[in-house]
Amino acid sequence: MEKLYIKGGQRLQGNVQVSGAKNSAVALIPAAILSESEVILDNLPEISDVRIYGEILEELGAVVSFTGETMRINASSMQSKPMPNGRVKHLRASYYLMGAMLGRFGEAIIGMPGGCNLGPRPIDQHIKGFEALGAVIVHERGSLHIRGNQLVGTKIYLDVVSVGATINIMLAASMAKGTTVIENAAKEPEIIDVATLLNAMGADIKGAGTDVIRIKGVSRLGQCRHSIIPDRIEAGTYMIAAAATRGDVVINNVIPRHLESLTAKLREMNVVVEEADDAVHVVGADELRGIDIKTLPYPGFPTDLQQPMTSLLTQSKGTSIVTDNIYQSRFKHVDHLVNMGAKIKVEGRSAVIEGSEALKASKVTATDLRAGAALVIAGLMAEGVTEISGVSHIDRGYTRLEEKLRGIGAVMWRESI
Ligand code: EPU
Repeated sequence: MEKLYIKGGQRLQGNVQVSGAKNSAVALIPAAILSESEVILDNLPEISDVRIYGEILEELGAVVSFTGETMRINASSMQSKPMPNGRVKHLRASYYLMGAMLGRFGEAIIGMPGGCNLGPRPIDQHIKGFEALGAVIVHERGSLHIRGNQLVGTKIYLDVVSVGATINIMLAASMAKGTTVIENAAKEPEIIDVATLLNAMGADIKGAGTDVIRIKGVSRLGQCRHSIIPDRIEAGTYMIAAAATRGDVVINNVIPRHLESLTAKLREMNVVVEEADDAVHVVGADELRGIDIKTLPYPGFPTDLQQPMTSLLTQSKGTSIVTDNIYQSRFKHVDHLVNMGAKIKVEGRSAVIEGSEALKASKVTATDLRAGAALVIAGLMAEGVTEISGVSHIDRGYTRLEEKLRGIGAVMWRESI
C-alpha cells in the first residue's frame, strides 16, 4: 500500500503540462476493437485505468503495445469472449466493451462494471439503446449477455443525459444497418473525441457535441492514428490547486473553452484567470469570495470538479453551497475535510460550506478518484504534513501527480508501507 504526504503552505508557481483526457482514453481504447486494422492512439494519459484497459484488450486477443503516451491496438485476430469477472470489475468504463463488442461481434458478455462508488450508477439508458438497435439482453449472475447479430439503426431518445450511454450507442451503431439518431445526447468534449476517432476509422457520425447525433452505419472500419484531447478535469484540478495556494501557475496543453464553467466560477471568487490559445494562467487572490455551484451536464459545471472545489471553498469568505445534480452521494471527501478543520454540512445533494480558518494537516483517505484530488488540494493548503491513503484511486486518473505538482513548488512525496 502506498501513501501520499504533502507539506502544506507552499505557493504553487510555474508551468504544468496537462495530459490526455482519461474519460476519452477509456472510450477510445475499446472503440479501437471495432477496426480490423491497427489503431494508434497518441497523447494517452499515463494512468492505471489506461493500463488496465490495454490489458483487458490483450486478454480478448488484441495485440496491444503501450509505450510512453502511445498505444497501438490491432484487434484483427480478436475473438468474442465472455468477460464476466476480473479486470472489467475494477473499471467503470469497461461498459464500453458492451457497445464495442456488440458492434464488432454481434454479442457481448460483460460483468457489471466497477469504478468509483458515487451512489447508484444505473446503465439502463445504455441497455435501452442496445435494445432499440435490436439487441436482446439478459442479466445473468452479475453479467449482461447482449446479443444482436444484425443491429438496425433507429431513433433513440435518452431519458437521462448520459456520457456513457451516448458513447456506447455510438459504438454499437457505427456498423449497424441504416441510420441511428440519438436525441438528448450528452455534449461533453469526450463525445466529440470518440466521434472524431470513429470517423477517422471510416464511420459516418454527425452532430457530436450537440444533443442530436446521427450515425449512418458503415460495413467496416479501418486503420487510423488519433491524438486524444487534453484532460479538462486534470487541468481544472491544477487551476483549483493554483487558486488554493494563492499561486501563479500557467497550465499548458488545455482547450480553454472546455474549462469555461470553472473559469467563470474562479473569477467569481476573485481569482484571476487569463486564457491563451492552449493555456490558462491562474493567479490566486488573497481573499476568496464564497460562491454557490450546481453541477450539470456539459457545458455546465462538471461534477468531476465539484470535490476539488469544495476544498477551495473552505478558505473563502462567507457561506458557499455546492449542489451535485449528477450524483447522489459524491461527498465522501467531506468527512475528511471536516477532520482537517473545515466547516461543512452535507444536506441531501448539497454541501454547505462555511469559510473557515486554515486547514490543519491530518491522516485522511481518498475514497474515490476526485475525493483524492480534493484531499490533495486540502493538503496543499493545510498547516503541517497531510497523510493520504487510498492513493490507488488517485492513480486511476492523474498522470504523475506528485511529479507535476512538485514541478510547480509543492512539497510532497509517496511512501510504500
Ligand atoms: N444515468 C442513468 N442511467 C444510465 C446512465 C446514467 O440514470 O443509463 C445517470 C447516472 O446515474 C448519473 C447521470 O445519469 O446520475 C450521468 O451519468 P453518465 O452516464 O453521464 O456518467 P458516466 O458515463 O457513468 C462519465 C465519467 C464520469 C463523470 C460522468 C458525468 C467516464 C468513464 N466517466 O461517467 O467521470 O462523472 O460521466 O460527467 O467517462 C471521473 O472522471 O471521476 C468520473 C466519475
